[in-house]
Amino acid sequence: QVDESKEVESIVPSYACQRRTTLENHNTVFTDALSLLAENAELSDEDGRGVAFRRAAAMLKALHSPVTDLLQLRGLPCLGGHSLRVIKDVLENGASSEVEFTKQSERFKALKVLTGIFGVGAKTAERWIREGIHSLQQLQDSAHTLNRAQQAGLEHYDDLNQPVTKAEGDAIGEIVAKAVMSVLPGAQITLIGGFRRGKLTGHDVDFLITHPEEGREVGLMPKVVSWLESKGFLLYQKTTRNSYLESKDGPARPSSNMDRFERCFSIFKLPEDEKQGTKQTETLTDTCSLTTPSLVKDEGSESTKRANLKPWRAVRVDLVVSPISQFAFALLGWTGSKLFERELRRWAGHEKAMSLSSHALYDNTQSKYLRASSEEEIFAHLGLEYIPPSERNA
Ligand code: CTP
Ligand code: MN
Ligand code: MN
Ligand code: MN
Repeated sequence: QVDESKEVESIVPSYACQRRTTLENHNTVFTDALSLLAENAELSDEDGRGVAFRRAAAMLKALHSPVTDLLQLRGLPCLGGHSLRVIKDVLENGASSEVEFTKQSERFKALKVLTGIFGVGAKTAERWIREGIHSLQQLQDSAHTLNRAQQAGLEHYDDLNQPVTKAEGDAIGEIVAKAVMSVLPGAQITLIGGFRRGKLTGHDVDFLITHPEEGREVGLMPKVVSWLESKGFLLYQKTTRNSYLESKDGPARPSSNMDRFERCFSIFKLPEDEKQGTKQTETLTDTCSLTTPSLVKDEGSESTKRANLKPWRAVRVDLVVSPISQFAFALLGWTGSKLFERELRRWAGHEKAMSLSSHALYDNTQSKYLRASSEEEIFAHLGLEYIPPSERNA
């Protein structure tokens, strides 16, 4: 018999995109544990297990009070046997032995350190670990040639592993806006990703760029990148052109989860006084020339000894360009969270026989694309209650 007063929630829908998940979390002790196991699974190329832990954690994030007894979990969705054992362990012992064991393991620690390098994924880290490389020093001492992204990642390791604040995100937003307005007046810039969901910090800053006249956005990214480069704002960038039109498999059925927008993965050089919020535009270029190349070079590549003397900081920035006709889909697809997005696509496919991507929504029953010019319309097409960005923190 369940004590009604101890029941945390009577009905919790099973898809994360049916739930309102704010940043307020009453069950961090459990969700931290499950998230760590999810991360470990993802870093070990066990995506299925990773998703199972992520779904369990997301369900607990949506509860409005702390879980204090296993009985309260009866009837709640998304909890597999493994996740339940972890929760039980935490309830009974204050911590999960599996989580503690994982945290201490040399393998997990090495995976974290190596994938902390921008440009290094789980597969590369795994290969290096098998060769006995567990630290940045060992990597640098090894004969491995790093690609351009990894070199930049290693060089700016400390900066890139320090969370980006909302103030820094806003400062970068002003620089990006200035760049975009200089090369295409009338274009629109929207903050996406975690900051759009109201997060106070993030691992990067994400922007979506469009123009109200279809077609005017074509070729925009290289111009924006040139402007930023000419002003010294980019430490690294890799631009990928739009491959949407050339694709054969149809817009809503991409061969992978990656979309095909024109995009730029970059590392910004954010001057210190920019992020302080000093907004005299005249000083922009002056500030830039302050950071002389010699200072940059002197900074060195060992990321351990760091008296931070440089008057700037490296920040990961993602830029995406979308035509206005796909803007709502791009906005929804790039606002996250990653699990919320995954659940939206699963809902569309399994419950509605539709295919959702960051480009379009295809109805397989009617054999036609469903148009939308706002996120609200997309939720309506999917038969879902509208969930605002601040409640997509699954
Ligand atoms: N995304 C994507 N394709 C990629 C990378 C990211 O569609 N190649 C989407 C993700 O699904 C996510 C959004 O872009 O919805 C933002 O991704 P990311 O910056 O990695 O995550 P955030 O939620 O912004 O988290 P953080 O604050 O740590 O940056
Ligand atoms: Mn609450
Ligand atoms: Mn982000
Ligand atoms: Mn990003």
